[in-house]
Amino acid sequence: MRGKRVAIIGVGNVGSSVAYSLAMSGSCHEVMLRANNVDRAKGIALDLSQASQSARKHTIVTVAKKLEDVKDCDVIVVTAGSPRLPGMSRDDLLLKNAKIMRDILKVVKLTSPNAIIIPVSNPLDAMVYVALKETLWERNRVLGMAGVLDSARMAHFVYEKLQYGAGQIRCSVMGGHGDDMVPLPRFSTVAGVPLTDLLTWDEINEIVDKTKNGGAQIVSLLKDGSAYYAPAKSTALMVEAVLSDKKQIYPCAVMLRGEYGYTDVVSGVPTMIGANGAEKIIEANLNDHQDRKFAKSVSSVQSLIDALYENNFFDK
Ligand code: 2OP
Repeated sequence: MRGKRVAIIGVGNVGSSVAYSLAMSGSCHEVMLRANNVDRAKGIALDLSQASQSARKHTIVTVAKKLEDVKDCDVIVVTAGSPRLPGMSRDDLLLKNAKIMRDILKVVKLTSPNAIIIPVSNPLDAMVYVALKETLWERNRVLGMAGVLDSARMAHFVYEKLQYGAGQIRCSVMGGHGDDMVPLPRFSTVAGVPLTDLLTWDEINEIVDKTKNGGAQIVSLLKDGSAYYAPAKSTALMVEAVLSDKKQIYPCAVMLRGEYGYTDVVSGVPTMIGANGAEKIIEANLNDHQDRKFAKSVSSVQSLIDALYENNFFDK
C-alpha cells in the first residue's frame, strides 16, 4: 500500500503553513506543493523537508512543476486565489477566485480522480459550490475549511473574556464564512459548562461580534494580507481527519441537500469527517433566533451563487 499524498495548491502563507503543520505531525507520507512560482515552491519544500528531518518525521515535501503533476493525491487543499486585502470583503474576490478554482479543478479532477478536495480560498462557500459544479463529484468529496477556524476564533474570544479555560473551550459556529456567520453561544461550553452559565448575554454578544470580525481584525493589523496560522491549523485538522478516517465532527462548508431546509446551496454545518470526506451532516436543533440567523447567512451565500450565474460563470 502506498503512503498518503496530500497536495497543497497555492503556497502563500496559508498553504505553506498547512504544509508545515502536516509535516510536523507526520500525518502523511508526502506533501506535494504546487504554485505558479515554482522556485518559491521549491524553496519552501526544501525548508519544510529539512524541518521534517529536524522533527524526526517521515513526511517528505515535494513540488509539482505543473498542475498536471498533482497526481494520485488522497487529499487536495486549494488555497490558491487572490488574498483578502484591507478594505476588501471576502465577496469582492468572488469572480476572480472562482475562475482560479475552476481552472485548478479542471485538471486535478482528472489527475487525482479519487481525491477529497478541501477548498480554503475565499469567498469560501462559493468556492465549494464552484468545485462541486466543476468536478460533478458526490458532495461528500468537497468540504470547505472555515467553521473550524471561526469556532477557534470564538474560543479565543471566550478565553479573552473569562481569562481561564484555555484548551477546554468548545465553540460552535455555523453558516457561511462571511459577515453573517452564526456563532452559537448556546452550543458552546467550557469544560462542559454552558457558556450561557458563565457569561452575561452582553458579554456573549460582544464575543459573537468579535468572532465575526476576527478575520478582518487580523487583516487590519497585518496590513498586507490575512491570517494564516489558525486557518492552516484548522485545515490540517480536516486533512488529518480524512487521512486517519477519524469520524470526528467539525463544522465544514458543504452542499446542503435538504438539511436545515436548504438545497443546492453551501453552508457551514457540523459534519462528520472520515476517509470519504464529509460522511455525515449533523442536523442540530436550532431555536427560532438561531434559525433566523442561519437563514440570513445562507441567503448571503445564495446571493454569491446567484452572482456567479448572473455573470454566466458556469456557461463559460
Ligand atoms: C480569514 O477569516 C481571510 O477568510 C480568512 O482569516
